[in-house]
Amino acid sequence: MIYIDQILLGNCTSIMSEMPHDSIAACITDPPYNYEFIGRKWDDKEINRRLERIKDSKTLVKNIPYGSGLAGGVRNDRWYERNRENTLEYINWCKEWSKLLFRICKQGAPVAVFNSTRTAAHVQVALEEAGFYTRDVLVYRRHSGIPKGLNLKRKLEKINHPDAKKWDGWHTCFRNEWESIVLVQKPLINNYWETLQKTGVGVFKTINKDGSFQSNIFEGYYDKSEKKFAHCTIKPLELIKKLILTLVPKSMENIVLDPFAGSGTTLVAAQQLGYHFTGIEIEIEYVKIIKERLFDNFQSTLELKIT
Ligand SMILES: C[S@@+](CC[C@H](N)C(=O)[O-])C[C@H]1O[C@@H](n2cnc3c(N)ncnc32)[C@H](O)[C@@H]1O
Repeated sequence: MIYIDQILLGNCTSIMSEMPHDSIAACITDPPYNYEFIGRKWDDKEINRRLERIKDSKTLVKNIPYGSGLAGGVRNDRWYERNRENTLEYINWCKEWSKLLFRICKQGAPVAVFNSTRTAAHVQVALEEAGFYTRDVLVYRRHSGIPKGLNLKRKLEKINHPDAKKWDGWHTCFRNEWESIVLVQKPLINNYWETLQKTGVGVFKTINKDGSFQSNIFEGYYDKSEKKFAHCTIKPLELIKKLILTLVPKSMENIVLDPFAGSGTTLVAAQQLGYHFTGIEIEIEYVKIIKERLFDNFQSTLELKIT
């Protein structure tokens, strides 16, 4: 079943398995970075434990991975073992959706996947194992980034330790200022030109309007107004628009997919640029936000399919 200009409520793994072969021109997506356990069917007990912990939170997605260094806990063998198990589960889950995504992409289709600097490698290897090949790892440079690790001096001051001053400036993390966008592509049909003629995708528009060659660092995209939509991992609309314009030649045949739509930034960007899109989101509350955003901008004939 092909879904044009629709939002689908459900698990992307089951929905993608029903979509036709070679039907998607590009995928621009932002899956959970292994911070968010909402919607992950493979660890219900853990999801429920974490949901209970955050039930009074204002945001729906707010969670902490074992490996982030933020979750606290004594770093004993058990801690590292749970962290390792969690990483392996995350990798397996990425492999599951990557394989399904590979089948439905057209040859030459670009797939751009946001991820944290900690977990991008997991996503990249999963996509490669599915059959995609890596073109680049783009940098999305953000403005802010607050170090959330341990300030050793402050910690020692709290317990009146005599060495507190000595450890001034020592911390456990860096200021996190960028996210990675793993860029892979489904293999071409012999070469770029043949692929482009047959599938309508394969090349990137890397010469900017001012004549400059697009760098693989994307910066200067920050839109405070987007924050009004209650999704804590929303991406700047202009950044997503730039990615679509760069990666996908415009054509009525080309559908842009986001299987982890969140508040729907990829779908809104595609709609505003006049591209066809398909969005999948597992949380009904986010689907409501997507509908609001899409209807906000256009008189859409959008349908909601519940799978
Ligand atoms: C990082 S957010 C995407 C945010 C989006 N880029 C935006 O600008 O709003 C990832 C989304 O994937 C959804 N999700 C997680 N697992 C899913 C699954 N198996 N199928 C579909 N959606 C899923 C989550 O509910 C979450 O909203």
